[in-house]
Amino acid sequence: MSITLTAPKRLRGVISVPGDKSISHRAVLLNAIAEGHARITNFLPGADCLSTVACVRALGVTVEQLAERELVVHGVGLGGLQEPTDVLDCGNSGTTLRLLAGLLAGHPFFSVLTGDASLRSRPQRRIVVPLRAMGAHLDGRADGDRAPLAIRGATLRGGHYELPIASAQVKSALLLAALNAEAPLVLTGRIDSRDHTERMLAAMGLDISVSSSQIILQPPSAATMPAALSLRVPGDPSSAAFWWVAAAIHPDAELVTPGVCLNPTRTGALEVLRVMGADLEVINERLEGSEPVGDVVVRSSSLRGTTIAGALIPRLIDEIPILAVAAACATGETVIKDAQELRAKETDRIATVAAGLSAMGALVEPTTDGMVISGRPGQLQGTTLNSYHDHRLAMAWAIAAMVARGETTVLEPTAAAVSYPEFWQTLATVQETV
Ligand code: S3P
Repeated sequence: MSITLTAPKRLRGVISVPGDKSISHRAVLLNAIAEGHARITNFLPGADCLSTVACVRALGVTVEQLAERELVVHGVGLGGLQEPTDVLDCGNSGTTLRLLAGLLAGHPFFSVLTGDASLRSRPQRRIVVPLRAMGAHLDGRADGDRAPLAIRGATLRGGHYELPIASAQVKSALLLAALNAEAPLVLTGRIDSRDHTERMLAAMGLDISVSSSQIILQPPSAATMPAALSLRVPGDPSSAAFWWVAAAIHPDAELVTPGVCLNPTRTGALEVLRVMGADLEVINERLEGSEPVGDVVVRSSSLRGTTIAGALIPRLIDEIPILAVAAACATGETVIKDAQELRAKETDRIATVAAGLSAMGALVEPTTDGMVISGRPGQLQGTTLNSYHDHRLAMAWAIAAMVARGETTVLEPTAAAVSYPEFWQTLATVQETV
């Protein structure tokens, strides 16, 4: 399967991007173990979040799908999950596998978590080592570093763990494990990744305190059992970023993405685009449930290169493929560093992004922890690009095609459905050719 695209004359549109992937996962997982029923609207029906729904159903939770984007989760309460009768298939979703590993580590039964070839090739020692330190019994291939992971539920201790990498999946796995632990969990170190789990646990009534240097989660007491939390999932900034870059690099464009999550742990791409000189406005900022949201308007811009490094990286890690496209269309050099985590994503995104942009004629030097892009507006040349089943690559190449000379063919375009099922239809509606 492939899609062939050419640059349109204009890009115009108001795009309601789908619900946030990270929040959709957490809304299902946390409500599954809460007391009561929760209605989740604007749920992302992407393949990754549907893997989470399938897994919690296999653990005995009733999830009603009222409409494509509307679910009711009937929580079973803490300790109410049941031993699954088969392995739990997490598909392509690292969030499903890692958060479930934490949650199931303290449940008194046996479970096995697995996924597709990409997920089975990704590192798991990052959760296995700290979960074992909490008393969990889990193992996997490569001495516990690769799925399938087998979990024999155990009594968990709390304790103190210093996070060596800024990963919300690791942080959340430990927080979910701690819901079944006997003592408080204290997390320090790189806690500066997306904080949706912390916000949702607090909104559900748990005793969690968060400062810039530490997170402390107390074991639930009778008064702080997780209570069902109905919510509307805000738009996914990682999906909206494709439209922001499309509008900024195209010579005749205006695209609006209303209702996007503006949680400060997720706004790195917006900040970088501003620094690069994007004509970008954020309007109508408001609070929806426990998350800030707003509408983002982006118009054709003259971008300049920048440095993307340090504390910014976890705040835009998933947007680096599309920011690299922006950098290739900017004037001057963009340096991306401190981003070695890109090598542990659905593909090694340092290698795959550099290879794809180079194939389009861009000047890109991959480095151990990032890349250096020598940008030149108007330089991209259409070609055939592989998405390697990586959703964010498929979409980044489609946006690059909006400004490339000649035809661009994207292989395996259906990968986009992992996080953005209607991406290709929306792309068709925003292009004006006459
Ligand atoms: C996610 C955390 C990030 C991100 C992923 C979603 C989450 O991964 O890249 O797309 O929902 O917790 P890491 O925790 O590996 O950084």
